[in-house]
Amino acid sequence: MAKARVYVTRLLPAAGMDRILAETEAVVWEGEMPPPKEEILRQVASCEGLVCLLTDPIDAEVMDAAPHLKVIAQMAVGYDNIDIPAATERGIPVGNTPGVLTETTADMAWTLLMATARRVGDGQQYVRDGKWQTWGPMTLLGPDLYGATLGIVGMGRIGVAVARRAQGFNMRILYTNLFPVPEADLLGASQVEMDTLLAESDFISLHCALTPETTHLIGAAELRKMKPGALLINTSRGPVVDQDALTEALQAGVIAGAGLDVTDPEPIDPNHPLVHMENVIVLPHIASASIGTRNKMAELTADNLLAGLRGERLPNPVNPEVYERG
Ligand code: GLV
Repeated sequence: MAKARVYVTRLLPAAGMDRILAETEAVVWEGEMPPPKEEILRQVASCEGLVCLLTDPIDAEVMDAAPHLKVIAQMAVGYDNIDIPAATERGIPVGNTPGVLTETTADMAWTLLMATARRVGDGQQYVRDGKWQTWGPMTLLGPDLYGATLGIVGMGRIGVAVARRAQGFNMRILYTNLFPVPEADLLGASQVEMDTLLAESDFISLHCALTPETTHLIGAAELRKMKPGALLINTSRGPVVDQDALTEALQAGVIAGAGLDVTDPEPIDPNHPLVHMENVIVLPHIASASIGTRNKMAELTADNLLAGLRGERLPNPVNPEVYERG
């Protein structure tokens, strides 16, 4: 039987790529930058499968250019780059890679939390700049994490994993979520209103998906409600934070610092003030970037793709309602 034609928008880790190459007739975009939209439109015309990344806008136009498309397999847990209602309307299942990146992403939220609180970035710069002359009683002081209050916005799998780590730091844990999360409550976390979380947290870590409701969830008003010494950590999606408002708040000392793995847009302009503030760490969207996790993400992506091509239910469909259509 002829192998299905598939378009893959970037080289993936071998754990998934090798199976895709062996089991399909794959065309792989080998550039380091994402393929231009025109290239995606051209390639999908003859494809039954599409493997994409969060950098590829997969909208109705792409789907309409792909009359044979049976499956979209995204190598990421987030899928705000894909028009899911458009895929569902067209009967196309979309798969993502949940679960396998939970702990790695929670580790990164904690890395940013500890690094911003304990001034790892500006401490390293201080040494590099030759400013380290002696041990100073007041040099590079930061707040304690141990025993402080952590606010988690969005208590999904990653939020819970962040809360679990906070237990080891004897933290009081507050969270906001659309519904109560018993697993979080068992960890001693308390669900509160956003205003309470903003007012009472020493550190706030964002773990919600990007949706129209969460776009600019943290804006000027929310930043003003935070404690002046608070730190904001974002490993979710850049647009969850109003970046201009955050920049102004940091410049005016409204909050004490930020650790950002995601920005709006990505990449952030290297001349953007946030990139150059001592109390801010900006990373290039690498929260899931451990070798093991990226391999597992690639494997799950291949699992979703190959199931979709066989006409089977995807192991991780983000639009399961597609299977309820007649
Ligand atoms: C990364 O941001 C992901 O959604 O997997």
